[in-house]
Amino acid sequence: MRNSAKDHGTGPTDYDAELRLHDRILRRAAAVRHDDHVLDIGCGSGHTTRQAARAARAGSAFGVDVSAPAIERARELARAEGVGNVSFERADAQVHPFPPERFDLAISRFGTMFFDDPVAAFANVGRGLRPAGRLVMMVWQPAERNEWEVAIRQALAGAGQAEAAAPSGPDAFSLGDPETAERILSAAGFADIAFTDVHEPVYYGPDVDAALGWVRGFTSTSEALRRLGPDASARAVARLRETLSAHLDGDGVRFDSRAWIITARRP
Ligand SMILES: C[S@@+](CC[C@H](N)C(=O)[O-])C[C@H]1O[C@@H](n2cnc3c(N)ncnc32)[C@H](O)[C@@H]1O
Repeated sequence: MRNSAKDHGTGPTDYDAELRLHDRILRRAAAVRHDDHVLDIGCGSGHTTRQAARAARAGSAFGVDVSAPAIERARELARAEGVGNVSFERADAQVHPFPPERFDLAISRFGTMFFDDPVAAFANVGRGLRPAGRLVMMVWQPAERNEWEVAIRQALAGAGQAEAAAPSGPDAFSLGDPETAERILSAAGFADIAFTDVHEPVYYGPDVDAALGWVRGFTSTSEALRRLGPDASARAVARLRETLSAHLDGDGVRFDSRAWIITARRP
């Protein structure tokens, strides 16, 4: 089912607006129960953590992220929204000593693709889950299946120079291949590993200016532009604007995207 503008609102773009349609699917898959204790891995500013806390009225939600500013923002938002049964800690989920068997459920919205040692990281998360505890995470499918990634990379690179804008640094697509993801999770001790295809557009804003501002804020975009130098960078921004214009319809600027919901269970 495709969705209409009212799903997105018309305010400034942010990550929660970009992923609103994905979020709905993750929430359904997580199916937080009223007494669950939930761990949110790579929680960012804590949207999904607060959401889990609201569903776990007699339980709790705990968000961890390596970014100190993100955790500060997550705490501010939880206070502002009056969500009491939620807490946050700046921590590397790969090594943080979670209380053993504390959590019924570990969730993540695009926060589990960046571990240096994914087997160690998921084994660590597994130790925090009670026996039969669940892992429910959303990750990107491979880059070439994500129109937003391909289109932005091509626009930044220009014809015949795809490598000029090849992403560097953390790989947002590292769990995109199901065989690889399954091998990692099995080695980390998880069972009942399953993949559900998520095919929803990402939303970059109500108009081209807003979308350009949002996309220029991506680390991969700003790094690619910096590498190009002033003249080539100005041409790349013009190409990017054209690409975004071509994706503007009555619902705003949107690109096709493919993600997985990966579910697994601690034996
Ligand atoms: C794409 S963002 C998603 C943020 C959040 N889940 C959301 O949906 O708003 C990925 C997040 O994972 C965090 N992250 C990356 N590696 C991490 C690690 N080893 N431990 C904890 N958080 C990590 C980043 O700091 C970033 O906030």
